[in-house]
Amino acid sequence: MQYIEEKVESKSADYARALKSLQEELEAVNYYQQRFVTATDSELKEIVGHNRDEEIEHACMLVEWLRRNMAGWDERLRTYLFTSAPLTEVESSGDGHGGQGKQEGAGDLVIRALR
Ligand SMILES: [Fe+2]
Repeated sequence: MQYIEEKVESKSADYARALKSLQEELEAVNYYQQRFVTATDSELKEIVGHNRDEEIEHACMLVEWLRRNMAGWDERLRTYLFTSAPLTEVESSGDGHGGQGKQEGAGDLVIRALR
């Protein structure tokens, strides 16, 4: 594992492991996606598509570990994930769950007035 600092505390070392693993999973998603779109044999296409989806699952597991363990991830993920506003505007639109009016839990229920 390559660190940018000489001495890395153990928790920071785990962050580095998770971040590097996430990088590797995303790289694998990219490779499999390219093979998926270019494969000419239908069975091979199915296999690499399956493999791509497995790598996406691995990447998601690492993102969730980072959310649970490394400062900064939870708030940003609550702001940017599962929103419908344009991504460049979501932080200020209030459509995200982060920032002001932050809500707990991923499956927040929003009750609006009936018309
Ligand atoms: Fe993987």
